[in-house]
Amino acid sequence: MKLVSTWADARASTVDRGTVGLVPTMGFLHEAHTALFDAAVAANDVTIATVFVNPLQFNNVDDFVAYPRNLDRDLDIADAAGIDTVFAPSEGEMYPTDMSTTVSTGAVATRMEGEYRPGHFDGVATVVAKLFAGLRPDTAYFGKKDAQQLAVVRTMARDLSLPVDVVGCSTLREPDGLALSSRNVRLDPARRSEATALSRGLQAAADLVAEGVVDAAALVGVVRTELDRAGVSPEYVELADQAGAMPISSVDRPCFLAVAAWIGEVRLIDNIHIDIIAGLPVPDRGVTLSSRSVLYGGS
Ligand code: PAF
Repeated sequence: MKLVSTWADARASTVDRGTVGLVPTMGFLHEAHTALFDAAVAANDVTIATVFVNPLQFNNVDDFVAYPRNLDRDLDIADAAGIDTVFAPSEGEMYPTDMSTTVSTGAVATRMEGEYRPGHFDGVATVVAKLFAGLRPDTAYFGKKDAQQLAVVRTMARDLSLPVDVVGCSTLREPDGLALSSRNVRLDPARRSEATALSRGLQAAADLVAEGVVDAAALVGVVRTELDRAGVSPEYVELADQAGAMPISSVDRPCFLAVAAWIGEVRLIDNIHIDIIAGLPVPDRGVTLSSRSVLYGGS
C-alpha cells in the first residue's frame, strides 16, 4: 500500500488502472470504515482511501482541534483491508490559501443535521466535490449512519454532473447496539447505557415497520418513548426520504428514521434506513459486531 500526500501522486496512483473505488474518511478508522474498504476492494480494480480531517465541516474550532487522529494506526487498518493507496493531504494541499470557490448545499441540507450544525454540509460537499473532481473515482463509498450526508453527497454529485456512483453501506453496531462512532470512546458506563436508548428505539421502530406499520408519527413515537425512558431528550427524531432528506408522513418510498441526541458532552446520531423491496418496506438494521471494537485499543 502507498501513502501519498499530493493530488498529483494520488491521481497517478489510480490512473489507467481500471475501475477506481474511493473511500473518503477523516481517519481514526474503525470497523465501519473497514466495511467501506471491503466493499470498495471487492468491486474495483484499484482503491484509494483518503484521510483528511476537514476543517470546513466543523462548526466549532475546538471540535476540529480535539478530533482524534492516529495516521499510523489508520495506515495499518487500510493496508490490512487491501486498500491500494491512502491519500493524506495537508490542509495546504487540500485548500489553496486564496481558495474562493465552495459548494453551497440547498434544501437537502436544511433539516436535521443541517439545522443543528449550520454550514456543516457545505464543508462536507466542498471537500467531497474536490475528491470526486481530483481523484475521478468510478464509485465512492459512504456509511448509511450519516444518512443525511449520503443524501447531500448524492444530490451534489447529480447537481454538479460528477460521474460517480455513490454507494451507501450498512451501519456497523457495537455488540450493545450503539452505532459505531469514534465519539463512543468518550462515553462513561452510565452515559453509555443512556446512549443505547437510541438504537433500542430505532430497532423497536424497525420491528413495527416489519409488522407493517408505516405511519411516521407511530415510528417517531416509539423512538421517543424509548428515549424518554432513558431520560434522553433528542434534538430531533424524524422520518425523511432518502433522496431529499425531507420529512415524510408515511413509509411510502425509500426513507430513513433518524435521531440525534446529546448524551452528556457527546452528540450522537443514528438511523435506520428503510428500503422498498418488491413493494414492501424493509428496514436495514445495520450489522452488529460480535466483539469489542478496535476503537477501544484493539489492533
Ligand atoms: O463522513 C466523514 O468522515 C466525512 O464527513 C467525509 C465524508 C470524509 C468528508 O470529510
